[in-house]
Amino acid sequence: MTRVFSGIQPSGDLHLGNQLGALVNWVGMQERADCVYCVVDLHAMTSPAEHDPATLRQRTVDAATTLLAVGVDPERSILFVQSHVHEHAECTWLFNCIAGFGELRKQPQFKDKSEGQESVSVGLFDYPVLQTSDILLYHADEVPVGEDQRHHIELARDLGQRFNHRFGEVFTLPKAIHPQAAARVMDLQEPTNKMSKSTSSEKGVVYLLDDPTRIAKKIKSAVTDSATDIRYDRDAKPGVSNLLEILAAATGRSIEDLAAEHDGHGYGAFKTAVAEAVVELLRPIQQRHAELAADPAEVARLLDDGAHRARTIAADTLQRAKDAMGLLPRGAA
Ligand code: AMP
Ligand code: TRP
Repeated sequence: MTRVFSGIQPSGDLHLGNQLGALVNWVGMQERADCVYCVVDLHAMTSPAEHDPATLRQRTVDAATTLLAVGVDPERSILFVQSHVHEHAECTWLFNCIAGFGELRKQPQFKDKSEGQESVSVGLFDYPVLQTSDILLYHADEVPVGEDQRHHIELARDLGQRFNHRFGEVFTLPKAIHPQAAARVMDLQEPTNKMSKSTSSEKGVVYLLDDPTRIAKKIKSAVTDSATDIRYDRDAKPGVSNLLEILAAATGRSIEDLAAEHDGHGYGAFKTAVAEAVVELLRPIQQRHAELAADPAEVARLLDDGAHRARTIAADTLQRAKDAMGLLPRGAA
């Protein structure tokens, strides 16, 4: 069966963009693949300015709980926290010794994040090598990610190939997949920007755990335009188009149908319909989240079980890599 691996950073509360852009696919892929999903807490430490220990710990639990709540099924898939499987860090050292300084320095995400910064951690520089370890330790065939991760997956392929060539076949070469998103969700206040955790105003972002009143308030104050027609046109009508796309994803209906149905009835009624649909979409997720949050011991147990299963795979791969590189096996002489 195809092995899928993906990771998400516990770097902020998950929002509607994450859900409709990525997590629905994570959940859907469980039907056809053997999925391994990871809360990548070690990656979330790479920007010292954003690293607060208590927050990291809380966000790690929240991210894992939310993944369970949206439908990552620990019976069918492996869900775990990256730092619980120390093989990731250890494997990173092995890849550090075959990765080139020059190829890492050229990584677009590193260039973006380090530009103009006075100090940058070695961890940030090494970020894509840790990501390589995440993926290659599990022999992942497919890595579902956003377009912005393409270079990281290419690096994982390159390093895996270089390793196999120099030391013998140990790693499977992964490929990035960009499954069709249910929606590309834009910020409600600035509908030409992606809905994002690094927004200037919380009002533009619907968090998965926002209560129904807050969801309705955010959607009703979404920026639209001064006309009254409801039609899909990302350039001329970014606000209305964004709401149509959200409504389509939340109800499973087509954008054309929805535009035809709502056109002529005004933005107020349209926004009410979008708000109701989003509230209904998130209701079962919030319910499941509340149940899990009320039982932290159960979440801990699920994550422990996930780490155990992940480790069985990762430890085997790492041992083969160490042997291939000539590290003396314990107990041998
Ligand atoms: P991030 O939290 O930005 O690292 O994103 C985690 C995942 O959610 C990635 O696969 C992104 O492509 C996806 N994602 C984030 N924001 C949006 C958005 N506004 N619309 C669609 N997908 C998104
Ligand atoms: N870098 C990814 C992101 O920011 C998160 C990530 C870490 C990841 N390790 C991974 C994604 C392995 C896929 C596979 O979105």
